[in-house]
Amino acid sequence: MLKRGNKQTISWRDLQGANVARLLFLIFGSLVFGSLVLLLIDRGNPDASFAFKKGKWASFPSSVFHPSVEFVNGTDVIWQIPDSPKAVLFLAHGCNGRAANFWDPSENCPKCVGLPEERLIVLNALSRNFAVLTISSIGRCWSMGREKENVKEIISWWVEKNNLQKLPLTAMGASSGGYFVSALAAEMSFSSITLMIAEGVFDSITITADYPPTLFVHMPKDRRRNELVFRYMEDLKKEGVKVAEIRCMEVPLNPHFFSARIPGIDQKISAKLFELFQKKGFIDGNGYMKSDGREVNWKEALREEDILLAKSKWTNHIQEEMNLAYAYHEMTSLQIDQILDWFESHMNLSKDSSVEGAS
Ligand SMILES: *[C@@H]1O[C@H](CO)[C@@H](O)[C@H](O)[C@H]1NC(C)=O
Ligand SMILES: *[C@@H]1O[C@H](CO)[C@@H](O)[C@H](O)[C@H]1NC(C)=O
Repeated sequence: MLKRGNKQTISWRDLQGANVARLLFLIFGSLVFGSLVLLLIDRGNPDASFAFKKGKWASFPSSVFHPSVEFVNGTDVIWQIPDSPKAVLFLAHGCNGRAANFWDPSENCPKCVGLPEERLIVLNALSRNFAVLTISSIGRCWSMGREKENVKEIISWWVEKNNLQKLPLTAMGASSGGYFVSALAAEMSFSSITLMIAEGVFDSITITADYPPTLFVHMPKDRRRNELVFRYMEDLKKEGVKVAEIRCMEVPLNPHFFSARIPGIDQKISAKLFELFQKKGFIDGNGYMKSDGREVNWKEALREEDILLAKSKWTNHIQEEMNLAYAYHEMTSLQIDQILDWFESHMNLSKDSSVEGAS
């Protein structure tokens, strides 16, 4: 896969314009891009395992969080802008999610939740100088009608208010948020997007060559979605849109798993959880979840064993990590470096293609 020409990177306009320096830059850029994609795409290697080895997840203190919170046009808008932002990242949660899940509780946002994967996505993005914008859906999931207009207005208002108009605008949505971002991208100018555990709504929107470069981060264990991602990638490629995928595989639990990923869970509880899940047969001999966390009766098992009774506020956090380990359908931060690389590698190229698109 990805034996694609550099067709849309080098336009006729560039050739005719005789801007040789620019052309060389574009050729160089596309070579760099090509090798990046080759690095990104490696079907043989489960992407998740190496990210785990890097041990980066708990290395950010939650004191980094000092988001601003505002209620705008009927919904929560929560954001943080680093000192020298180089791009804007809009994040769209999945069903039952909300903006508050992306941020740890802090003085500005005492009711923030800080779900483990969401918070790590934000922390990594901030550390690479992305201004991060999160918005809550009005209902349980995102809807495609009026809500799209509302979010477009909020993003434009926020960009202007913070004087970020000159920065590339990127977006990532998971599940329902992925469908939403895929639709939004047909109407708003993003430099590139990431659709996580979502194939997008490409059956119901018109794709043109100036649709932003699209990275699919998905979990092939969800075979139906895997097939749709494959199909839509082919469709997008045919239209001249850049695409890539990251396939997220299951990861084994171990006694440190929960404490390494959830700031509120200590090592002792983490080991107890692991032991209990082993005893109950939720995981196999190699530590892999046998079913999705949503299908396992783990909360009852915890009650029986009197673990974590006073800490039920971590229930959703633990559940999320179990789902992540099973790798069927969950928000994931394990591939965040590659995702941010994707955004960064399209910040300049996309500006060129948007010039083309305007002609
Ligand atoms: C709020 O909604 C109104 C009506 O659609 C719109 O005109 C306005 O721009 C919106 N404001 C923001 C900040 O999104
Ligand atoms: C993209 O452009 C910005 C300035 O517009 C520049 O600082 C940056 O180095 C460029 N990135 C690449 C990968 O060329």
